Amino acid sequence: MGKLRVAATADLHYGKHSRGVMHDAFAEISRRADLLLLCGDMTDYGLAEEAEELVADLHSGLRIPALAVLGNHDLESGEGKLIEKVLDQAGVVLLDGGAHEINGIGFAGVCGFGGGFGRRMLNAWGEPLIKQFVQEAIDHAVRLEQALSKLQTEKKIVVLHYSPIRATVQGEDPEIFAFLGSSRLEEPINRFRVNAVFHGHAHNGTADAATATGVPVYNVSAPLLRRAAPGQAPFRIVEF
Ligand SMILES: [Fe+2]
Ligand SMILES: [Fe+2]
Repeated sequence: MGKLRVAATADLHYGKHSRGVMHDAFAEISRRADLLLLCGDMTDYGLAEEAEELVADLHSGLRIPALAVLGNHDLESGEGKLIEKVLDQAGVVLLDGGAHEINGIGFAGVCGFGGGFGRRMLNAWGEPLIKQFVQEAIDHAVRLEQALSKLQTEKKIVVLHYSPIRATVQGEDPEIFAFLGSSRLEEPINRFRVNAVFHGHAHNGTADAATATGVPVYNVSAPLLRRAAPGQAPFRIVEF
């Protein structure tokens, strides 16, 4: 079986008048890759109307399968389910704790959540609200683990919005690191010997790093990629 060329992007933040913004990029991606990952924050205010704008560009520009996870912006207006429906009708596969296989490669994804990293990670202690916050991060890690356990494929790729490691949020203000990801997501990634992780959310983060066991982690946030390569379409391609 030949190599699968995986294109990935995140944080497109489509608004009500964004139609056309990514059309050419989607056409280019279709020529250069076999699959597109949309790693959350596809919309700006989480409106189904904004997702329709994105879908218009996917329809006109994209000729390859697309997989996605929602981001925190996609949940802002309580229309997450509607956005999922709009994307689903356009043929985009939503990985909300789900697993999907393409060309013998397995994909598992969740949005993820905050809570911070390593020894400074927030723990479930004290106020009930803090415990609830931590529980949300645990729930996402558990759903990622369940999705990974469904995959029978030799190669596994994880799709997230939040980061599983500190190194790819580096570049942001340290004050917000804890809101950009959680080490709880890293544990199943290492245990299941995942081949690569793609995420977004940290617009000012770092593009490349790896987990404690050496799993490559790619921050494909469009603002970050645009700064790194001005004038070029904001996506990254990795072959598996
Ligand atoms: Fe974003
Ligand atoms: Fe985000």
